[in-house]
Amino acid sequence: MSGTDKYAVFGNPIKHSKSPIIHRIFAEQCDQQMQYRAVKVELGGFAQAAQHFFDNGGSGLNITVPFKRDAFGFAQRLSDRAMRAGAVNTLTRVDDGVIEGDNTDGIGLVRDMVANLGWAVQGLRVLVLGAGGAVRGVLEPLLRERPRELLLVNRTPERAVGLASEFADIAPLEGGAYELIGERQFDLIINATSAGLSGEMPELPSSLLTERSCCYDMVYGAEPTPFMRWAAHHAAWAVADGLGMLVEQAAQSFYIWRQQRPETRPVINQLRAAMEAA
Ligand code: ATR
Repeated sequence: MSGTDKYAVFGNPIKHSKSPIIHRIFAEQCDQQMQYRAVKVELGGFAQAAQHFFDNGGSGLNITVPFKRDAFGFAQRLSDRAMRAGAVNTLTRVDDGVIEGDNTDGIGLVRDMVANLGWAVQGLRVLVLGAGGAVRGVLEPLLRERPRELLLVNRTPERAVGLASEFADIAPLEGGAYELIGERQFDLIINATSAGLSGEMPELPSSLLTERSCCYDMVYGAEPTPFMRWAAHHAAWAVADGLGMLVEQAAQSFYIWRQQRPETRPVINQLRAAMEAA
């Protein structure tokens, strides 16, 4: 490849996206000539903007809220993962000119938990809160880690039931209402609801935690989320937010585009420090 290849992230809003800084650091680390911009796309204008980008020599796109479904529809070819996720966060123009769609969110989540945090998922009792797009995006890689059990609970129970039946061919899982938690205990609890964005969290029995339970919130921010505060208050063994997932999903996109694996740890540390200083 010669010259500077063009990449971007499309979203709305996009102002606070960390993707440009993450990919800039990856490119420096791996000595790659690439440009990466954040682009605010008007609602309803995704396909046109993406077409324009690729027609003008763009090499790859990341896609964030609210366009992951549009990107799924736009892709001319889909990875199995993207097909399962029903959403695309990475578009790549491959050698034959075809625009390929992939979804790196689930790999990002699993890599952050397993490689960065040292929380092996295999053999654990896993509880996932929520049944929206965020959950659909990560379920396959999560199930492929072979948890002992996986329970999916949601405020609207039918959505959890539906998701559970869609993914049941990969590994056994159960879906339904929060009441299903009952007296059960879990080793790993993942919050994939958007409740924290409005300062809330689903009501949970504290009896679900053991002294070795790990709690992961897929959202991140300078301050701990309500779910993270709840977990810390109830003496969870470890608590993490989704900053590492963000960096890991970016690293997987970077790998798809450039066939190189950047080092994620220094990037996570740098972003964390900047967030805390802000
Ligand atoms: P995303 O793409 O972030 O998953 P989504 O598809 O709108 O967005 O899903 C949001 C998830 O957060 C859903 O599981 C939603 O529950 P419902 O399916 O019942 O709507 C969940 N959620 C949002 N606010 C919540 C709250 N206050 N308490 C519990 N769950 C909540």
